[in-house]
Amino acid sequence: MTTTVPQPTPARQPRPALRDRVLKLVELATTPLLPTDYLDLVAPLRSGAALRGRIEAVLPETRDAATLVIRPGRGWRGHTPGQYVRIGVDVDGVRQWRAYSLTSRLGRADGCIAITVKAIPGGTVSNHLVHRTAPGTVIQLDQAAGEFVLPTQRPAKALFVTAGSGITPVMGLLRNHPELTDVVLVHSAPTPEDVVFAAELWSLAADGRIRLVEQHTDTAGLLDAAGIAALVPDSAERATWACGPVGMLEAIEEHWAAAGLADRLYTERFRPTVLVTGEGGTVSFARSGTTLEADGATPILDVAEEAGVLMPSGCRMGICFGCVLPLREGAVRDLRNGEITTAAPGDGVLIQTCISAAAGACDIDH
Ligand SMILES: Cc1cc2nc3c(=O)[nH]c(=O)nc-3n(C[C@H](O)[C@H](O)[C@H](O)COP(=O)(O)OP(=O)(O)OC[C@H]3O[C@@H](n4cnc5c(N)ncnc54)[C@H](O)[C@@H]3O)c2cc1C
Ligand code: FES
Repeated sequence: MTTTVPQPTPARQPRPALRDRVLKLVELATTPLLPTDYLDLVAPLRSGAALRGRIEAVLPETRDAATLVIRPGRGWRGHTPGQYVRIGVDVDGVRQWRAYSLTSRLGRADGCIAITVKAIPGGTVSNHLVHRTAPGTVIQLDQAAGEFVLPTQRPAKALFVTAGSGITPVMGLLRNHPELTDVVLVHSAPTPEDVVFAAELWSLAADGRIRLVEQHTDTAGLLDAAGIAALVPDSAERATWACGPVGMLEAIEEHWAAAGLADRLYTERFRPTVLVTGEGGTVSFARSGTTLEADGATPILDVAEEAGVLMPSGCRMGICFGCVLPLREGAVRDLRNGEITTAAPGDGVLIQTCISAAAGACDIDH
């Protein structure tokens, strides 16, 4: 027997041509604001709007870290555990973009996602999010991205090495992959009070889900790669994911490569590795009419923001291309590898300002 399931009657949509004319009229009436700006005030998460999210809760984790529960708008396409999301947030009237790893369980009943932010000394966005953001705040969202995820073929044995806020993508993985049964987590933070998710991690350890090694660097010092290998004698048999300060990641990469295990190591950086610096130069921003002196070691993005130039940005470490601007003339150096990019007048070569420093005079179309 076949049963006919009653289908909801779709709401009638205005015909596109008519809808466009109505929008045009509304636009005339609302100029200089666009109708979408008014809609953003009343329905920021509606489908068709630029992707946004509403912060539903700010849950303190430690004295300087908090989890932000975010209700994403209709266009959110979901994420794979271990990935990050770029968020755009207004701080003192300036829209700032930063990347944060997703820490929530997939498919939460309330439809929300979560990120966990650690406020760093002097940090513009992290302090704003942790200490000065109220539930109800609407932020801009990008779709999730990132490669710090598990392969389809799950490893029989896994090792996670994290420090400080580097625990966040790993928490996203642990919360969503209970099928990982042989897991060692080596985590370090300055003191026991600074360990984000401490109670949950120890409860996973008590349940036998993970073997947890917690190192407090204020008293026990920093963990080096050899120390990690000594703590985990079978580390060579484990697929390894590491996230933390650049120095820690470089030491692990070197150690794992020397042991012929580079292909079993996955790392996630929160900041770019600056390898090559050089002479700086004068940077001019054609449209804003700003000219400033930049050294050869600081990204143009940082130098410009410091001088009050409003710059597009995103991850601030060379992965999202949210900071790309045309170099009209001059030369910049990629701080990760020393590569020089030059532009002759009129070229308009696109450069990533977050990982490029001036290498002589340069003129940027911005
Ligand atoms: C893929 C990715 C995922 C990330 N996930 C998380 C996350 O889950 N949780 C989290 O708290 N952060 C995460 N970050 C870092 C985050 O994007 C910001 O860089 C961080 O919050 C600092 O931003 P800010 O505006 O407070 O500092 P800024 O105002 O940009 O910088 C202030 C000062 O701190 C330095 N600085 C910038 N970033 C760091 C850093 N990470 N550590 C130490 N010093 C820094 C700057 O050079 C500057 O001197 C992630 C970054 C990336 C690229
Ligand atoms: S801000 Fe992401 S690549 Fe520069």
